[in-house]
Amino acid sequence: MLRLDGRGKTGMSGSIPQEFIDEVLARSDLVGLVERRIPLRKAGRDFTARCPFHDEKTPSFTVSPDKQFYHCFGCGAHGNAIGFLMAFDRLEFRDAVADLAAEAGLALPAGGDAPPARHLQLRSALEAVARYFRQQLRGAHDAIDYLKSRGLSGSTAATFGVGYAPARWDGVLTQFGATPEQRALLLECGLIIPREGNDGGFYDRFRDRIVFPIRDGRGRVIGFGGRVLDQGQPKYINSPETPLFHKGQELYGMYEARQAARELPWVLVVEGYMDVLMLAEHDITNAVATLGTATTPEHLRRLFRHTRRIVFCFDGDGAGRTAATRALQTSLPEMQEGREIAFLFLPEGEDPDSLVRREGRDGFLTHAQQALPLSDFLLQQLKEGLNLQTIEGRTRLLERGRSTFRKIPDGIFRELLEQALARLAETDVRDIRSRPARRESTPPRPIAASRTQPTPLQRLAGLVLAHPPAAAWIDPAISPLLRAEGEAAEWLIALIELARDHPHLSSGGLLERFRADPAEPMLAELLAWQPVRSEEGLARECSDICRYLLVRASKSEVDALLTKAATEELGDGEKERLRYLLARRET
Ligand code: UTP
Ligand code: MN
Repeated sequence: MLRLDGRGKTGMSGSIPQEFIDEVLARSDLVGLVERRIPLRKAGRDFTARCPFHDEKTPSFTVSPDKQFYHCFGCGAHGNAIGFLMAFDRLEFRDAVADLAAEAGLALPAGGDAPPARHLQLRSALEAVARYFRQQLRGAHDAIDYLKSRGLSGSTAATFGVGYAPARWDGVLTQFGATPEQRALLLECGLIIPREGNDGGFYDRFRDRIVFPIRDGRGRVIGFGGRVLDQGQPKYINSPETPLFHKGQELYGMYEARQAARELPWVLVVEGYMDVLMLAEHDITNAVATLGTATTPEHLRRLFRHTRRIVFCFDGDGAGRTAATRALQTSLPEMQEGREIAFLFLPEGEDPDSLVRREGRDGFLTHAQQALPLSDFLLQQLKEGLNLQTIEGRTRLLERGRSTFRKIPDGIFRELLEQALARLAETDVRDIRSRPARRESTPPRPIAASRTQPTPLQRLAGLVLAHPPAAAWIDPAISPLLRAEGEAAEWLIALIELARDHPHLSSGGLLERFRADPAEPMLAELLAWQPVRSEEGLARECSDICRYLLVRASKSEVDALLTKAATEELGDGEKERLRYLLARRET
């Protein structure tokens, strides 16, 4: 199904209206944006550089100011200003748009749970309190001794902004809650709690605890976790859900991990704050923690935006096994090609913190290398409790496999799993594949991959993409004719209509509307190979292709009508249409 006009990508753009995204793109300058990050060389109308997204000696990365689009002819990386910030600064869609908007002096429109002005207030309150907690740690000898006893150095504590909430009921409250407005703000941040009896009074949530600020993808504090210094209960408390803090999405340590290395070849997912910190202490800086919650699909998607391999870490005990099984089930639908997941089961009674302290960096990494690949873990689970010596056992295995594999996206990974299961069940792989067709609809294939000449439809799409104003010169009569060409033409019609309705969109802006569309890679490739033409040449080429397409469409309609006429009487309308088409053909 084709998604027009950004429909179907709400998950990514959140509540940002499409018009605002258009406007942001129209006001940003891709060349300047790239140039501030990597050196560019002018080459004709475009700029080139060594690609920042893969290793190369000769520059194949091209930035086009006309198209507001970049493309690497080597690795295929491509996109507009938003895409570049997402890829280079590793921002999420919303943050990339926000950054560009700020640069262009545009205010992000209101949306979501709170107006942006409120978000700003919440952020600055959280930031101020984080600073206060850090300052409090300096004089807190017990807290410092505790951290030292756990083996944490001052520099790691500083990297993660670790602080201390003093042992009083009103530390944050007196410092930051002088007015009712300020107290309302602290309450909304989850930093204070209303006193029982509802007398209008409050008290501090975090008291006499080590505090770990939780940061978002851009390093801004969105919440805290706090640990007691002794055996007290609860051991940890966390900020509640707030407009800025959503536990099911956040990963503690993600920001710090991305700061520590340009690339994240793999990411280790652990359970606790102290695990992340102690791994970092031993120079294993690619660990993140789910905040005491189970791994969610959002977590996985967020992780896969920054790495291709995830290693989940679990306790070796029964509870760890159960948690791993849950993580496995959540992972299956995310197993797209190029992604890898493995499961690391720690020795009984150990957590990453204790293990890395005992065995050091190398010892820990040796364990990590032996993580069980998702495929092995999955097959293990499927076999569990079955006697494969019996037909009954093997039948049950196939049944389990079939229903489980259905959750995995189509692709080589699933095929290989099916083959492995077939071997285990001593049967043919066809017995496992219960699906009639491999794919419901195949997205259009990239041009380079198919190594064929672009079709006229693709050429027209390329022209419109590279020169959006050209859409206005395309005969509107062509749309209904193209529709007859089927699904392949749907995205072209969409593209032409988009460009016609939004004449101010650049190429990159047009492409933005296809962000979540299966046709996007093909469109990007068409755009990349499209030379910038003179307006005159462009108009001629457009009208040539249109004429060709019109002739071809009317020819096939004539053929269809003539074929029908050979076997049955045509209706009046059909006769009329045939006469019209034949007459037009003469001219
Ligand atoms: P653990 O109980 O495994 O603690 O909780 P830990 O990480 O080993 O902590 P240390 O080493 O004793 O300091 C793992 C994670 O679960 C959440 C926290 O995020 C913690 O880091 N948790 C745990 C809570 O939110 N509340 C709790 O009371 C306990
Ligand atoms: Mn621990």
